[in-house]
Amino acid sequence: MAGLFREEIIEEIRGRIDLVDFVGEYVNLRKQGNSFVGNCPFHADKTPSFHVTPENGLFYCFGCGVGGDLFSFVMKIDHLDFPQAVEKLARRAGVSLERELPGGAKQASADRLNRLREINREAALFFFRNLRGQEGKGARAYLQSRSVNEESQRLFALGYVPRGSNLLQLYLKQKGIETEEMLAAGLVIKRDDGTLIDRFRDRIMFPITDVRGRVVGFGGRLLGPGEPKYLNSPETKVFHKKSLLYGLHLALPVIRKEKSVILVEGYLDVIALHQHQIKNAVASLGTAFTPEHGRLIKRYAREVVILFDNDEAGRRATDRAIDIFREQGLNVKIASLPGAKDPDEFLQAYGRKAFLEALGKALPIIPYRLEQLKQEILLDEPGNKSVLLARLFPDLAKLTSQVERQEYIRLLAQELNLSEGAIWDDFRRNQGEQRRKYPLLRDKSPEIRNNTIGNKNVNSFRSPYLIAQENMLKVLVQEPALVTRVEEQLGSEVFADEKCREVFDLIKKLVAARPGEPVLTADLVHYAPETLKNFIAKLASAPDLPLGERQVEDTLNRLQLQYLTDQVEQRQKQIREAEEAKDSSGVQNLLQEISNLQRKIQSLK
Ligand code: CTP
Ligand code: MN
Repeated sequence: MAGLFREEIIEEIRGRIDLVDFVGEYVNLRKQGNSFVGNCPFHADKTPSFHVTPENGLFYCFGCGVGGDLFSFVMKIDHLDFPQAVEKLARRAGVSLERELPGGAKQASADRLNRLREINREAALFFFRNLRGQEGKGARAYLQSRSVNEESQRLFALGYVPRGSNLLQLYLKQKGIETEEMLAAGLVIKRDDGTLIDRFRDRIMFPITDVRGRVVGFGGRLLGPGEPKYLNSPETKVFHKKSLLYGLHLALPVIRKEKSVILVEGYLDVIALHQHQIKNAVASLGTAFTPEHGRLIKRYAREVVILFDNDEAGRRATDRAIDIFREQGLNVKIASLPGAKDPDEFLQAYGRKAFLEALGKALPIIPYRLEQLKQEILLDEPGNKSVLLARLFPDLAKLTSQVERQEYIRLLAQELNLSEGAIWDDFRRNQGEQRRKYPLLRDKSPEIRNNTIGNKNVNSFRSPYLIAQENMLKVLVQEPALVTRVEEQLGSEVFADEKCREVFDLIKKLVAARPGEPVLTADLVHYAPETLKNFIAKLASAPDLPLGERQVEDTLNRLQLQYLTDQVEQRQKQIREAEEAKDSSGVQNLLQEISNLQRKIQSLK
């Protein structure tokens, strides 16, 4: 199915369209916990049974069992096939399918986007020449005062636009570019009275490129004090702030090699890092980090080191970024630079060696939070240890590996001088309270309570064995890495249901294909055959349980129990057949097997 289009194209489209926004155009959605709910557009729905989960990019209707991702939604709602859905969404996302689809209309839209990039490139050239020329003297002096050397200025194609209201317009016009096109590129503004003015005036210009190095917009900085300090291009057909990263094109070779990205706040931080030969640094465009950024990074790297400004805003942005990147399954670390307001200042003041040392001390999420909390909460006051722990538990709950959770609890026990057991007890109690406070869907909806979700025929009976298989898969969809453990402990034959077995095999395949790399629910849906997508979406829409060791152990146990019980039942049937066939030795063997199975069952209970 995906063969028609390059994977990156599909991902780019997915990254640019917000599922909740999109579905929101068809369905009245309201937020409920981590997801959004509304009345299902695919069946006559009186209670809101339709769920959209932005976290994994999936939707699912508990009423009629329809589910899937962005592409499935468009296919179903507009009755399109996959290529048509891609076309429609690509158009909306402003993603060009140039080489994927033949045909004039596609070409025309691709041409328009290319034209916008061309105009931006022309503007970048104009700015660049200004910086190098007579009128760029003051700007060059400013950059020098900020220690941006000439090599960096050229590498990042920095430029300058002099004072004046229409210098760029005049230049672009002379290049044959129409006013309408300048407006579309966001380089010129139409004022209320209808007159035109260059957007950028008397600013140092930072061209912003897409991942392929094509200029798609600009940031412009004032040379001195004043407001706004930075001005960016507005959103255009080629300039999407929520999915662009400053410096990514230049950083890509190193990011690919090291599988690691350093994330900073400012353009000048990126430049300073590159100038100090640390070449995997990127920044957002002055906006918060988005899941799109996360997906973009995840394409090339496994690890992100967050290195934001040393102030309250930086710490808040760090917290948000942690959430985003953790959800993407990226390995997140947080570095801090004492004695400077940002990486640029730190490098200028203390140099590369000190910087690399600080980078080496970057902390994973839990230790970072612990450090932050220790500054906030005085541990010598009675009761405060549990206050601190309660603040840490949500992070502990979000760890995808039980082994890791165990390690951190060990570390916490040492740090806080408590027993591991006491922390575990508190943790489990805390998770229990969270669940009571935010009750699971299972506790609310009768369909779910009766385990009839996803069945069009609500009365159809689902055996406890099938339910046990599905519950195991719900755990695996949340934490695919557990697949090896399930395989080792139970073997894949416990998935007797054909659909369940297919999902299990798919998870197994994906985990094996990328050792050490996380498999996300979105990946599962992406690689699943069309026939399984609904089912996986349904499994993934189960409320996100904090997967404690106990839940995992319970689910495993229950499945094994149901499997063994099923084996007994099958043999009982065979016994009846053997009796009819007067096969007495067959009956004897089967009875022996049953008693073995029953012994196993007893040991599990
Ligand atoms: N930014 C913005 N608009 C502003 C201020 C900042 O878009 N008015 C964005 C820019 O992308 C900037 C980033 O936020 O690079 C970080 O802001 P700041 O730390 O103030 O800028 P620096 O890049 O550190 O630049 P400088 O050192 O010159 O202050
Ligand atoms: Mn800064």
